[in-house]
Amino acid sequence: MKQLLSPWKSSERFTTTIFLYVFLALFLIFGALTCVFISIQKDNFKKEVLNTGTMLSQMLAQNVRLGVFSENQTQLYNAATALFNSPPVIEVSIYNPDGKILLQKFRDKSNTINVLLADSSSPSRSEIIKQIDKTITPLVVSKKDYDEFWMPVWSSETAQIDESLYFDHVVEPASKHILIGAVAVIIDQHPMQMMVYNLITRIASIAMLFFLIAGGATYLIVKTATKPLNSLLSQVSEHLGPTGKAADLGMLSTTFDNMIKNLTESFATIKELNTNLEMKIDARTKDLALHSRYLEKTNRQLEETLQELKNTQSQLIQSEKMAALGQLIAGVAHEINNTTNFITGALPPLNKVINQIKTLLLNQHPETVSNQNEIGASPETLLINLDTLLANISEGARRTSKIVKDLKNFSRPGEEDNLINTDLVANLESTLTVLYNEYKYDVEIIKDFQPNLPLVTCYPNQLNQVFLNIILNAIQAVQSKTGGKSKGTIQIIIRQQNSMISIRFIDNGCGVPRALKHKIFDPFFTTKAFGKGTGLGLSISYGIIKKHQGQINLQSKEGEGAEFEVLIPITQKMDRESDKPRTINPADQSA
Ligand SMILES: Nc1ncnc2c1ncn2[C@@H]1O[C@H](COP(=O)(O)OP(=O)(O)OP(=O)(O)O)[C@@H](O)[C@H]1O
Ligand SMILES: [Mg+2]
Repeated sequence: MKQLLSPWKSSERFTTTIFLYVFLALFLIFGALTCVFISIQKDNFKKEVLNTGTMLSQMLAQNVRLGVFSENQTQLYNAATALFNSPPVIEVSIYNPDGKILLQKFRDKSNTINVLLADSSSPSRSEIIKQIDKTITPLVVSKKDYDEFWMPVWSSETAQIDESLYFDHVVEPASKHILIGAVAVIIDQHPMQMMVYNLITRIASIAMLFFLIAGGATYLIVKTATKPLNSLLSQVSEHLGPTGKAADLGMLSTTFDNMIKNLTESFATIKELNTNLEMKIDARTKDLALHSRYLEKTNRQLEETLQELKNTQSQLIQSEKMAALGQLIAGVAHEINNTTNFITGALPPLNKVINQIKTLLLNQHPETVSNQNEIGASPETLLINLDTLLANISEGARRTSKIVKDLKNFSRPGEEDNLINTDLVANLESTLTVLYNEYKYDVEIIKDFQPNLPLVTCYPNQLNQVFLNIILNAIQAVQSKTGGKSKGTIQIIIRQQNSMISIRFIDNGCGVPRALKHKIFDPFFTTKAFGKGTGLGLSISYGIIKKHQGQINLQSKEGEGAEFEVLIPITQKMDRESDKPRTINPADQSA
């Protein structure tokens, strides 16, 4: 088959092979079934012949009793003739007990019934008759083309009752039976063989038809079913190249085996690679985590350093500013003080000299003292004016001294790094003096200072900076609201609260918008025009108050004003090692 199919295209060859296998299987199954069916039918036919022969021979044996007994030919003839109505009966013979033929009728090839009336007795027949003497079923002698059914004929007295011919139950012959003859019915096997032959022919034609239809259908089904397999085969054979082997399921199976082997190997390699990769990823992840932690730490440190730098920068700027301002103020105060010293130093001797001039004038020319002279005023009047002018000069000198004192108090050169017991009221006053020019036209300062406040241990210079920043902000807030058209107010309230001093600065300026409240203490945050504000005032102030272990609190409504409260401890808790005020964690502060 392989040789037969080899020139075909491998896919067609595969389809045909499958088809032939399926067809062969069908053929074998159908053939086997047909054989079984025919054999069953044959058996049935045989049984039919047996039954017919048995029944006919029994009937004949019953019917010819009297005829045999009386050797009445007519009766015998009639009984025998009746049997020929059944087509397979080809011969009927009636014998006496010695085997002599009493009557024989037979059908020849032209279907004519012939009669043989008498014959000599035959020992072989008498032998058979003896054999069947006591049987109630016929003796069947099978020949090539026919079957002989031998049945004894008993006298009517001893014969089996007639009903037994028609019913199943068998009536045993009487023990005292008398054999008076025998009958033989010969049944032709031809009709049965013809029927079997016809059956086989019919089955064969049906089988042919069936195989034609089944073959076509099977071919179509196999072709459709093997289409994907064929394409797979073509691809496999294309892939394998000219191997010299025809593409078949064996090759497919080998290919699949190889594929599975390759796949298994590949999977093992992938698994190994995967494991390696996972290990590498694990190691890498750990490295990265370490790296990331290190980076985070470095980042934090950088941020902290940056913040510190910013703070330091802002502090530097502010302290430079304040130092410059302090120096300037101190210088100016010194110069004014010198000048004022001339005035205040000269005033008492001047007073003395004027008093002496007065005494001389009254003593030497008392008549002219009250007279008017050419300059339009009497010496008395002039002396009174002189007193007034001297008093004014004295007051001016006193005020100037106070301003100088305030200025000195504000700048306090040389005391920057010392903790000093300070009168906060005096410090506030000097700050207000320094700022006087800023607010004198637009702002009224309302002071509400608790009397007899204790001295506060602090860095007075730095607290002055705080007051200056807060008051200056308040002045600017009021000015930005009124625009110089009306006067605003800044209320300064100082109270002792247990161990703390509270200084509240309440202005009715523009206020701080809610969104900016958390930003205004950030360094460089300003809402002021470029060049007007650096955004450092409050951040520096916050740092200074923190250094003093105090707090700055803000309350404000946009458009209505702001209140800054500074809380300072009266005494500073010192750090034993550094002997400096202990700093407080900014997180504990609510600014
Ligand atoms: N009393 C106040 N009323 C309204 N806003 C205020 C008040 N005080 C401070 N602010 C707001 O807070 C911001 C920050 O103030 P801060 O003193 O730190 O900086 P600045 O005044 O802008 O500039 P600098 O003080 O460095 O000249 C101000 O720009 C202002 O917007
Ligand atoms: Mg400011």
